[in-house]
Order: sequence, then structure tokens, then C-alpha cells
Amino acid sequence: MTRLSTTTQEAATATEWGRKDLLGLEDLSAAEIESILDLAASFKGSHPLSEAPLKRRTVAFLFTEPSTRTRSSFEVAARRLGCEVLGFQTAASSLLKGESLLDTIWNLEAMGIDFFLIRHEHSGVLEPLAPQTKASLINAGDGAHEHPTQALLDMFTLREKKGKLKGLKVVIVGDITHSRVARSNIHGLKKLGAKVTVCGPAALIPKGIEKLGCAVSHDLDRALEGADAVNVLRLQLERQKQNLVTSVGDYYQAFGVDGARLEAHPDLIVLHPGPMNRGVEISSAVADGPRSAILEQVSNGVLVRMAVLSLLDSWRTANGR
Ligand code: CP
Repeated sequence: MTRLSTTTQEAATATEWGRKDLLGLEDLSAAEIESILDLAASFKGSHPLSEAPLKRRTVAFLFTEPSTRTRSSFEVAARRLGCEVLGFQTAASSLLKGESLLDTIWNLEAMGIDFFLIRHEHSGVLEPLAPQTKASLINAGDGAHEHPTQALLDMFTLREKKGKLKGLKVVIVGDITHSRVARSNIHGLKKLGAKVTVCGPAALIPKGIEKLGCAVSHDLDRALEGADAVNVLRLQLERQKQNLVTSVGDYYQAFGVDGARLEAHPDLIVLHPGPMNRGVEISSAVADGPRSAILEQVSNGVLVRMAVLSLLDSWRTANGR
């Protein structure tokens, strides 16, 4: 276990960190998750930093799926910490000639890359790669497995708005089957003492999900009773190999989050990881309304990603990397 490496970070938290990679939240302890959230909080209002604590570090993106928020947010976070950002584009790389992800990592590592931000369509793609490279791997979303920094920024936003996570009731509604965001949120929220209910049509909720420690509902109005927050997921039509909902209109009627549905819950906060399908899973009035924390989530994402990069940097420094 290593202590944080810079004066900024040491001032922010005395928590210890002992990991090279961030592959998911399933394996993290509550203390590790809290250390990320606390360090992220210490970065609030600190832009620009008075120092560039990661100025000797270089990050590269290996994204085989599209992204607006995660990629840009990591790039902003890395630059705020003083990192160099390699302008590597997977769509114009030798991955297209059949070079493996591991060979790509080894070649870029030989050029001095410290951090790889990886988004990939296959669940679990990072786990076998991580022990084979000295670089730090960060999961930016792998298949339907995990999207740890999205869940961390969701939790950060909830904690900031509600003052705590322990004891909160969070409903995650939508396409749970295809959602890495749902899985990471369930792992993270449960570890920090929140209660989670996943809600959606039976066809979009995987069998056995309750083994992760969440409740399951197919009735959104009942699920929202007593809830502190609802995290609305995108209907991932591009990942559905068959039509899992009868129609978008039927889906919206049963599971769409609109003003009328939320009227009875004045203190409920609305989250959405983005990108949003307005009029499919959420109304514009709710998405842009006073109870929406959606753009705050995006702002907080930069802080959370700064914290993740800083903690992994502290491990690298302490281990001579
Ligand atoms: N929430 C999220 O992962 O958004 P992007 O796909 O735009 O990165």
C-alpha cells in the first residue's frame, strides 16, 4: 500500500491506495471507493491547479466504441493534472490490420505511455491484459460488464446532493441487461450502504441480478416509492439482437421518467449517464428541469477522473514506474 504522492493529494486525504489499475468497482473496498470520492471532492473549485502533479505522465485512449463524455472528460482531467495526451485514434490504427489489443498496448508502453483508458465492446477484456503490462489500465466501459468511473461520478453527485450515500434508496430504471453503468452502480452503491432497486421490463433485466444485492421491480411507480434518486438508463437499441421491447411508445408509457410520474416525489433527484434518448426513457422537461443533476454529473466526472489518475499515479511513483 502506498501513500499519495503529491502535496496536493496528501493534503486532500490520508487514505492509502494499493492498485495499479482500475478495472471495476466489484473488487474495490468501501474505503477505496471513498478515497476516490474524497479526493475528487478536494479538486472541486481547484481549477487551475497551482501545480501540475502528473506532468511526467502520458495517457492514451484505446476506444473501440464511440464516446462523448467519458473520453472528453478523461482528456480534460488528464490535462488539468499536467499529463500529455497521445492523439491515438483506434479507428486509424493497426488494430484494423489485426494487431491485438495487447500488442498495441506493449508498443505504446514502449513509447512511454503510463495510462491506457480503454473502452471496448467485450465484457472483461481488461482483466487478462492488466497483469501483462506495467502501464495502468483504466476501464472506460467494457461491454455490459463495468463502467467504474461513471458509477463513481454518479455516486459523487448523489453524495454531494444528499450529503450521504448510506441508507439512500436508488432506483436504476431501463435497459439493465446491456448496462455496464447499472452493474458498476450496484457494486459501488451497495458497498457504501445504499439500497438499490433495478426496474424495467422483464426482457431487459437479466436473470439472477438480485444476487448482486439489489431488489428487482417491473413497476416504476411502485419502485419510486420512498426513493431518493432515480438513475435513468438509455435504451440501448443498438445492442439488442432482437426486439426486447414491444414499442418505444409502450416503453415510455411504462418506464419513461416524466414530470407527471415524479410529481409525488418532490425530493427525488434524477440522474442519467448519457447519451439520452429524449422522449424514449426521459422527457425533456425532466432532463432539463430543476431536479435533474445530469450536467452536474458531467462536471463531477472530471473531478472523479482526476482523482482516479492521481491515485494510480501515486501507486506508480511508489513502485518505481
Ligand atoms: N456515460 C458515458 O459513458 O457517455 P459516453 O458514451 O459519451 O462516454
